[in-house]
Order: sequence, then structure tokens, then C-alpha cells
Amino acid sequence: MPNVLLNQTCNRNCPYCFARKKLIMDGLPPKNIEFDDVVYILDFLDKTNEKVISYLGGEPTLHPQFADILRYTLSRDFRITVFTNGMIEEPVLEEILKIREDFDIAEGMLRFVVNTNEAEIRTEEENMMQRRAWKALGDMAMISFNIFRVDHDYSFILDIINEYGLFKQVRLGLAAPVVGADTESMSPKDYENVLTRLTDFSDECDESDVKLGFDCGFVMCKLTDEQLGRLFRNSTGLSFGCGPAIDIGPDLSVWNCFPLVDEETLYLKDYDNLQQLHEEFMKRYETELKTMGVYEECADCKYLKRGLCMGGCMAHYRVSAPAPKKSKPGKAKG
Ligand SMILES: C[S@@+](CC[C@H](N)C(=O)[O-])C[C@H]1O[C@@H](n2cnc3c(N)ncnc32)[C@H](O)[C@@H]1O
Ligand code: SF4
Ligand code: SF4
Repeated sequence: MPNVLLNQTCNRNCPYCFARKKLIMDGLPPKNIEFDDVVYILDFLDKTNEKVISYLGGEPTLHPQFADILRYTLSRDFRITVFTNGMIEEPVLEEILKIREDFDIAEGMLRFVVNTNEAEIRTEEENMMQRRAWKALGDMAMISFNIFRVDHDYSFILDIINEYGLFKQVRLGLAAPVVGADTESMSPKDYENVLTRLTDFSDECDESDVKLGFDCGFVMCKLTDEQLGRLFRNSTGLSFGCGPAIDIGPDLSVWNCFPLVDEETLYLKDYDNLQQLHEEFMKRYETELKTMGVYEECADCKYLKRGLCMGGCMAHYRVSAPAPKKSKPGKAKG
């Protein structure tokens, strides 16, 4: 599912944010996607009958035509996931509720994945705005949490889901590093501890009928067989993969994923369809994904060779070793 950046501005400043290199900070004019380019992207996806799309940013709900973009996308029968920090202005929330009524939306056609930080780094304004959003969105909203320390206390997540009747799933991300940016991230040497805590949390979730959903970059070998079993039962499915995510910027530039944003920028209009873009990124990273990993032992791992685990997030070994020489991107054959 491609991720479309509606803008490059944000009203929050998360310590782990991997979009930082793409964010335009204070004092500069916001860079918003043009409505016509949204239409272009939907036409592009339609060519291969790809009817799912994610909107993000920056903070996508700050785009002045956010509601119009949602309406238009739904009218084209796309299933939408909006990645938001939940700091949604009241008039925008009201528009979303009107859209829900007007379109009589089937479950899952419009989902808001609300990136929620733990209490100690939330501001009062953030608390107020997120509470308002959860109350308004109810089961259209799903909590998302980025792990950037070993000792997070996850219990607050279930409290919020239960209090506001949110969708019973949690998106979990291991905060990935960004090459050349000073962001907080989760080191692979701590994965074992993190995964032990997460497995315990998954049992608590199971008691409330809440499932965990894992983002890219998790590794298999730091879980015991017993933990693998519990996580399998308590999650939407286990996969230990690495990209391509396929992010499309407001200027229609395209990159593999935020942490690798400097490595290869393609341009959407040079490609005929999503499949070609996917192939282009796979071509670039294929060899590395089959031979490298975040641990030394990945090099000899039979599960990596079988494709069961991709050895964690490539950005980790980029931080310590430079990327191989850039190949000149060519148009993939259709
Ligand atoms: C860059 S944010 C932009 C949208 C919105 N502002 C938000 O925070 O959800 C898009 C997605 O990236 C995730 N994210 C941010 N930094 C990350 C990191 N270092 N590693 C993994 N995911 C990250 C967020 O949780 C969110 O799901
Ligand atoms: S993760 Fe989202 S909310 Fe946080 S700073 Fe980045 S773009 Fe903003
Ligand atoms: S390098 Fe791979 S695992 Fe890391 S964020 Fe990108 S796609 Fe995900």
C-alpha cells in the first residue's frame, strides 16, 4: 500500500520521527500536495487495480483540502488509512464525521491510525486534542505506538482503547533510525528485552480482545519458540520483513521509506504503474536483503536465506556502513 504525503509540516515534534528530513520546520511556507496530483496518484493506482492508499505527512489533517481529498478518494472506492498524530482541529473532525454519515462507510474503508506517545512526552494541548479526536472517531481510530526505549509501559494503550471504544488493534513500530539525522531509535541489541515485554503486553491485549499489528523491521531470532506462538495468537499475523514501503511526496517524488530517504529518489511520472516502482526498489535492495541483517549471525542464517526473516531494518546497517554505490534508476519493464 503506497504512502502519500499530503504535506511536509507537523504540529508535533516526536523525538523518534523518521520523517524529520522531509519536514519543513517553523518559518517556511507549508508544502501541500495539489489536488490534481492526488487525482493523478489515484489514476496511477487504479491502473493495476490497487484500491488501498495511506495518507500521511507531516500531519496530513493540516492539509487545507484534507476533507475534500478524503471525499474524493472514497468516491473512487479506495480504502483509506490516515496516519495522524490525532492533533486534529475541531472543524476537520466535524468534516470527518459528516463524511462518515454521507458515505455510510463500511468497516475499514476509512481508518485513522493515531500515533500516540506515552504521557511523559505529551503536552497538555496534545492530551486535549487527542482526547477530542478519540471521542469523535471511536472505532474509526486505531492506536499506534513507536518503541524507542526498552522500558515503555504499554498499559496506557489498553486504557485508551477501552475508554473510547477504539478499534481493537494496535500498530507497533520499532523506531527506525534515519541515516544522518539525530533521532531516537531502538537498537537491535535491545530487541530481546523489548520483545519479551511486548509478548507479555500481547497477552494483556488478548484479554481485552485487542490484537497487535507489527510494522516492518522486526526480527525472528530474538523470540523464543514459546514467544513466537503467543505473538502469533495475539497478533494480526507475524512477518519479519523490510520494505519497500513506497512513499510518494507532495511533489510526486518517490522513495523506498523514510529512513532511506537520501538513497534513491524516483519520480512517479517516470513510471507507468505501482508494480514497476516496486520492482525498481526491489532491484536496488534485493541483494542486500538476501545477504545482510542487523546482527552478524544474519549472514549465515537459514531463515534469512529462506525469506522467513529479512534481518531487521536496513537503516540500522546503513547507519554503521555506507550504502553501496548508487545505480542509476532506470524505468522498469512493464
Ligand atoms: C511520519 S508519520 C506522519 C503521520 C503522522 N504525523 C503520524 O505521526 O502518524 C507516519 C508514520 O510513521 C511512524 N513513525 C514515525 N517515526 C518512526 C520511526 N522512527 N520508526 C518507525 N515508524 C515511525 C508514525 O508512527 C506513523 O505511523
Ligand atoms: S511522527 Fe508524525 S506527529 Fe511525530 S513529528 Fe513525525 S510527522 Fe509529526
Ligand atoms: S529500511 Fe526496511 S524495515 Fe527499515 S523502515 Fe525501511 S522498509 Fe522498514
